[in-house]
Amino acid sequence: MPGAVASRVSSRFRRARFAAGARGTSPLLLQRHLCGRNAAAAAGNPPAKSLQRGVVRVAKQVRVGMVGYKFMGKAHSHAYYDVARFFDLRAEPVMAAICGRDESGVRVAAAKMGWQGYETDWRQLVARPDIDLVDVSTPNNLHAEIAIAAAEHGKHVLCEKPLAMTLEQARRMQAAVERAGVVHMICHNYRFAPAVQYARQMIAAGELGEIYHIRAQYLQDWIMDPEFPLVWRLQKDVAGSGTHGDLSAHIIDLARFLVGEFDSVTGALHTFIKERPLDGSGEGAWGARGAAGRQTGTVTVDDAAMFLARFRGGALGVFEASRFAGGNRNGNRFEINGSKGSVRWDLENMNNLQLYLHADRAGQQGFRTINCTEGAHPYADHWWPAAHIIGYEHTFVHLVSELMNGIADGRSPQPNFVDGVRNQAVLEAVSTSSETGVWVNVQA
Ligand SMILES: NC(=O)c1ccc[n+]([C@@H]2O[C@H](COP(=O)([O-])OP(=O)(O)OC[C@H]3O[C@@H](n4cnc5c(N)ncnc54)[C@H](O)[C@@H]3O)[C@@H](O)[C@H]2O)c1
Repeated sequence: MPGAVASRVSSRFRRARFAAGARGTSPLLLQRHLCGRNAAAAAGNPPAKSLQRGVVRVAKQVRVGMVGYKFMGKAHSHAYYDVARFFDLRAEPVMAAICGRDESGVRVAAAKMGWQGYETDWRQLVARPDIDLVDVSTPNNLHAEIAIAAAEHGKHVLCEKPLAMTLEQARRMQAAVERAGVVHMICHNYRFAPAVQYARQMIAAGELGEIYHIRAQYLQDWIMDPEFPLVWRLQKDVAGSGTHGDLSAHIIDLARFLVGEFDSVTGALHTFIKERPLDGSGEGAWGARGAAGRQTGTVTVDDAAMFLARFRGGALGVFEASRFAGGNRNGNRFEINGSKGSVRWDLENMNNLQLYLHADRAGQQGFRTINCTEGAHPYADHWWPAAHIIGYEHTFVHLVSELMNGIADGRSPQPNFVDGVRNQAVLEAVSTSSETGVWVNVQA
């Protein structure tokens, strides 16, 4: 059932949209009250006082409907809320409605996170004529169904990673968005850390020379306790895979972004704890508690993944993902070695890039730390003065800024569903190798 807030608050926007006969991104100029520097730029007005009294014109608005409002829902909500306050966009998000099954929970979340309204059935949400973009922030088993339905209703789609449960499902999702001609994107947010973007610029410009190696790890430790319950992430029918689809997917994306396409892989997946208490807390991960009583269930996904890779460009890769790496809370890191230099990055110190250049004078060679918060570093100039660091949530803001401009321009920014499919092909090739024990070619 649509939330009362939705029908009340959005009616003004809906009337304006329909008056212009618009579907999809609204082309009409809407009046709205604004404050902040984007408003100043958009209006061509001097900032501050005059803005507080006046109205400004916004060229395009993208009305967002988001399914799922817990961990990723919160991160995405923050991004939609902040993005137009820090970026000058060709289209700006309007936080139209979120969706969750529990009405009291979703109502509170909508109010707290700044959404105009809510739905309790995602099918209602994707069918709403006033929604332009559907954001899929649910467990993995729902990605395909929601994304395909959204595309069939002509909505642009942002989908969380991994794109799908299987490669075949991912391909159907890509076909659906392409058939519908909508803009699509997958939420591999770590690409959007300024230090990662800067590393990519250096590699693309040849500053590291020929790339020989990438070694990447994504290490966590939140399920090491055998009493930790059987949350959805540990169930194959909901998650598709475990650590592999969750964490390997991220380092595969970083490797594709920085080094290029995978050629072949060999690896192994492993489950350390095969039986766990049933989940007493419903959904989510961190902070989940076991159900009262002694009932247990079987873990049907991997706890850890390791694999080797050959890249089409000739580089070699070593990858490791685990939820059993004690002391590593969120250790997402890589090192890349080229003929002219190397870079290292670690999410837990995400503003810094370690750089080694072979051309440095003898006696002065070694890794140096670059704090990627200056004008030369992608996205950094949208935030604070140099060395006023940014955090995890900003990577989502950067991604959403690209998505908004992509929607305004009618193109799907990367990473999009094509990247999602290629990522899924690598995941699946590693899973196959784990079963067969041999090298597996990654399907194009
Ligand atoms: N990009 C990243 O760094 C990152 C980080 C964490 C999770 N993820 C991905 O985001 C997705 C969600 O993960 P999460 O950590 O937010 O999970 P979560 O358990 O915290 O939240 C899942 C949300 O989906 C909702 N939901 C479940 N079934 C639903 C249904 N039938 N209808 C409507 N809503 C439903 C739940 O109510 C909840 O709000 C997953 O695909 C996960 O892999 C990505």
